Amino acid sequence: MSTTEKLVMDHPMDSLLDLVSEAQVGQGVSRIDGPLKVSGQATYTAEYPMDGLLYGYLVSATIGKGKIKTIHDKTALVVHGVVAVITDFKRFLRNPQQGGVNLAPIQGVKEIAYFGQPIALVVAESYEAARAGAAALKVDYERADDGAFDLIKELKNRKPIDWITDKSEISGDPEESLLTADIKVDRVYITPSQNSAAMELHASVAYWEGHDLIIYSSLQMVASCRASLAHALGLNPKHVRLISRFVGGGFGSKLGISSESVAAAIAAKQLKRPVKVVMTRPQVFESTVRRSNTRQRIGLGADANGKIHTIIHNSIVTNLSGELFFEPTALATHFLYQGKNREVKYEMVRMNQVLAGSMRAPGEAVGLLALECAIDELAELVKIDPIELRKLNEPERDPSKDIPFSSRHLIEALETGANHFGWKMRSSIPANRREGQWLIGMGVASAARSNSLKPSEARVTLTPEIKVIVETDMTDIGTGTYTVLAQITADLLGVPLSVIEVRLGDSDFPPSAGSGGSWGASSSGSSVYLACKKIREQLAAQSNIPIEELDLKDGHISSLNGSKSLKELVTKDIVGIGKIDAGKTSKKYTQASFGAHFAEVAVNAVTGEIRVKRMLGIFTAGRILNEKTARSQCYGGMVFGLGAALMENLQHDSRDGRITNHNLAEYHIPTNADVPDIEVILLPETDRLTNPLHAKGIGELGIAGAGAAIANAVYNATGIRVYDYPITLDKLLDRLPSL
Ligand code: MOS
Repeated sequence: MSTTEKLVMDHPMDSLLDLVSEAQVGQGVSRIDGPLKVSGQATYTAEYPMDGLLYGYLVSATIGKGKIKTIHDKTALVVHGVVAVITDFKRFLRNPQQGGVNLAPIQGVKEIAYFGQPIALVVAESYEAARAGAAALKVDYERADDGAFDLIKELKNRKPIDWITDKSEISGDPEESLLTADIKVDRVYITPSQNSAAMELHASVAYWEGHDLIIYSSLQMVASCRASLAHALGLNPKHVRLISRFVGGGFGSKLGISSESVAAAIAAKQLKRPVKVVMTRPQVFESTVRRSNTRQRIGLGADANGKIHTIIHNSIVTNLSGELFFEPTALATHFLYQGKNREVKYEMVRMNQVLAGSMRAPGEAVGLLALECAIDELAELVKIDPIELRKLNEPERDPSKDIPFSSRHLIEALETGANHFGWKMRSSIPANRREGQWLIGMGVASAARSNSLKPSEARVTLTPEIKVIVETDMTDIGTGTYTVLAQITADLLGVPLSVIEVRLGDSDFPPSAGSGGSWGASSSGSSVYLACKKIREQLAAQSNIPIEELDLKDGHISSLNGSKSLKELVTKDIVGIGKIDAGKTSKKYTQASFGAHFAEVAVNAVTGEIRVKRMLGIFTAGRILNEKTARSQCYGGMVFGLGAALMENLQHDSRDGRITNHNLAEYHIPTNADVPDIEVILLPETDRLTNPLHAKGIGELGIAGAGAAIANAVYNATGIRVYDYPITLDKLLDRLPSL
């Protein structure tokens, strides 16, 4: 028997999780997929064994703009082992827009829009032969001489972004009030392009059974990627089965499909054999997706006491022509601080550079690198502590929309952090603390990341053997989804984790919203919650127990009339299906997770070398579903923030847009020696307006603001503000205070 529970979040609601004694939810349960992973038994996309497997190697354009004249297939086909050169200019010429299911397919043109754009797939009996064939393939191009490669030159061609209007804002008279403000900050912050640099390379293995495509691919969102793939291939989605059981990180770069999946599918169809395509690291950099570089103007106007009345956050971002995505830098600026004169505007510069799209906390991650440093500068001008300034400007309601927050504990996070970190040790005078050659400084920044709930579905089956099977196409991209969904199930059905099997990442399972935008755990978790609720109701009905009296624990069902084991009660499969969607509470309340970042840095007074000594993050994200995996997400986000502040810089050659540091040797991300002691404190919070779990997103909260705390600490250490990220020692060297 199967019954379905559908919930649209229109009202605040209680959570059954609050009734569970000795709950699994909230505990720091170790990953249930951990043993599989550490013993090498968790199969990642590129590892699926297949009979008769062929290997594909993508060929990338070596011009930045122009046309393909001829591809000389023979030059690759003569290489021993090469079986085909696949070119399908309709299907995988350009990276499809992330999740752009409803867009017209990129049409049959041979145009090159960026250096590194995939133009062909060489398929061979071995990877080595495919790679040799790709290297040998001769391509004639017609180079265009009007490529947009130099951002500074192209700035004059920027256009207002008017195709998405709900991300812009204007109220009061911001320019005038900034001009006449007692105290003001008006700065431009520059952030470079970045790459997600997930550990697992983008990969796909495709084969066909008649008209049906079966494809293993490393992706974050199965349902929407399946639709994108079907769309790119001209298929009905029901003819595509997409499997992503384990994903070695995505951070946004796998929200949508990339060219290797489409190419593998076309090749497998044409050659009637399974085809595997794994990108190389340079191809991930050059041919998938980047975070846009930005130029952000922040204008803050305040009265003499530091009460902010004006906030301007205007951004220039970049992308390929025709793409709708833009980096929404000001997402948190709308609601972080009060002030009646407000402006948020975006302009786009079209560049012949690899697609720009989502990377961990698209918007806040780089937006707070600007806003939170401007706040620090304002505090200094007002001559008050930066935490005091934030407290002074804490809004009671969302100041842009004039609606309440569902929950907000920013001040508590700042205060808890200040105590724990020893904030009073910070000198309010910059460059005032020294340990030998090292200048020591402390910085603080707010953290904020919007929370959302997305349509998600799950199926839970309780079998007579008292096994529980949880199925949804949700992914676990390293975040802990397998474990969290098992914990929710264990609590609601009163069974141990050991009898629960969570099956994810397969389009044969009910469609979820996938892993993205920090909505993964709460959206998929809510659908599992609802499915379990249905099973509880069936169990209650079967045993004539009023649902309010139902108590499920240790594999037993009990009520006032006594207790019975589930084994006695369940004689055939009981199936519950849960479906969740956002509703009125998402419109009537501004929902976000909040927190505070603290950093202490040491800057060498001779060399300018920056070492982060300590980081502390205090976070409030509703109910914490798993103390260990949530904490891990925060660590990861904070390391990302450290990288954004001090290291990451995807460089485009100004002659052809080529990414010059397309590898992990030259694209610098923090490694062990760069990462100090990081401490994370998760403050208790519940939120009855977000979802039945009362949880909020946490995956991206850790990065939002982290880099700004470091930048502010560098200022506090040296007296130097750097407005052009990353803050590398060359930008400090000639301005360091004398010894
Ligand atoms: Mo996220 S950047 O939505 O994976």
